[in-house]
Amino acid sequence: MTTTTAIEVRGLRKDFPVREKGILGPRTLKRAVDGLDLDIPRGRVTGLLGLNGAGKTTTIKILATLLRPSAGTVRVDGLDAVADARAVRRRINLIAGGERMVYTRMTGRENLWYFGQLYDVPKADLRRRTGELLDLVGLSDAADTMVERYSRGMTQRLAIARGLINRPDYLLLDEPTLGLDAPIARDLRRVVADLAAHDGTGVLLTSHYLAEVEELCGHVYVISAGRHLAQGSPAELKAATGSHRTVRLTVTDPTERTRAVADAFGATRETLPDGGEVITLRHPGDMAGPLTAAVFEAGGSIGGLEIAEASLEDAILTLAERGEAGLAGPGAGRPDATTLRAGAATARPGAASGLPGAATARPGAATVRPDAAAVSPDAGAALSEAATAGTKGGTP
Ligand SMILES: Nc1ncnc2c1ncn2[C@@H]1O[C@H](COP(=O)(O)OP(=O)(O)OP(=O)(O)O)[C@@H](O)[C@H]1O
Ligand SMILES: [Mg+2]
Repeated sequence: MTTTTAIEVRGLRKDFPVREKGILGPRTLKRAVDGLDLDIPRGRVTGLLGLNGAGKTTTIKILATLLRPSAGTVRVDGLDAVADARAVRRRINLIAGGERMVYTRMTGRENLWYFGQLYDVPKADLRRRTGELLDLVGLSDAADTMVERYSRGMTQRLAIARGLINRPDYLLLDEPTLGLDAPIARDLRRVVADLAAHDGTGVLLTSHYLAEVEELCGHVYVISAGRHLAQGSPAELKAATGSHRTVRLTVTDPTERTRAVADAFGATRETLPDGGEVITLRHPGDMAGPLTAAVFEAGGSIGGLEIAEASLEDAILTLAERGEAGLAGPGAGRPDATTLRAGAATARPGAASGLPGAATARPGAATVRPDAAAVSPDAGAALSEAATAGTKGGTP
């Protein structure tokens, strides 16, 4: 057993039994996670990215001990997530957007009290912790209201507080800001960054809001059809996929000389109705200064300058497309890729059109998934309680 303080995932695989053609059809296996290796160290926010159906939630549920892996190992500070599940559960917690993580027929305060007890938070500490967390997520005024009367955003805020009740060493965040309004989403990002930087919490984040990922994550894994596609910092991923920054320079009095400069930089030119010209340059490097200086030197007057950063969204889409085409690096495109790729392809169109906004457009996201039933039967503690909370507390 190692004594590393990190979550170490090796060769992780998850097959779900599925029936084709209805309940009487033949049983086959759907491979959702296919040989993943991940390292999630303390004190940092690590990203897990991929298009819809890539296997992010399945992976996170396995790390949270809510699902058993079909193969491979997950070690949390050296403890095995299957054999030592109880001990692992004390060190981790999960915040998932769009899934019911709390009981609707209890108040916010009662929920936190209940989950705190499941996590063995000492009673004296729990009272203070509950108050602090309700305050942190802006629910102090609604603390004694039944959760069934909360709005979706309020319920998600409570899920965030629930996820922090045991001061977890590792925090698993599966689209945690889904459905949150901008101020609370920003507060959550601040809390998460702070937990990693000051408390040494190891965080794993999945999100379709790539700006959020860029803000928080130093290291990102990109997966497709359950397989590793790429990893690196957001900047490295953008560089590796040749994602370009766009510079748009408006020249109010274009001349032959300014046009020659634009052409020399390999930029495109577009004439405006007022006789001005927009010079557009896409480049991986920072070309705004040199281009502006050269146009100015050539006697041009600058009417405007816009710089659009290379987007992580472009990089992820490029990687996913390469992955589907079987062109990704080592670890991708193994022989059984065809069937899985077919699944990935059906999941793509919605995602490709709206990665940043995908969260609002994902029909399955807002409801408790049927796979809640796949929670391992021995998962008796807080996390599995949470996963089934919706079922137990949702109906009178
Ligand atoms: N209980 C289940 N039974 C059968 N297949 C499942 C089950 N849960 C997930 N899957 C399948 O496994 C694959 C991975 O799903 P998963 O929810 O992990 O994707 P994801 O990356 O979280 O996607 P999203 O971005 O949409 O949240 C999908 O093809 C999904 O249909
Ligand atoms: Mg998911």
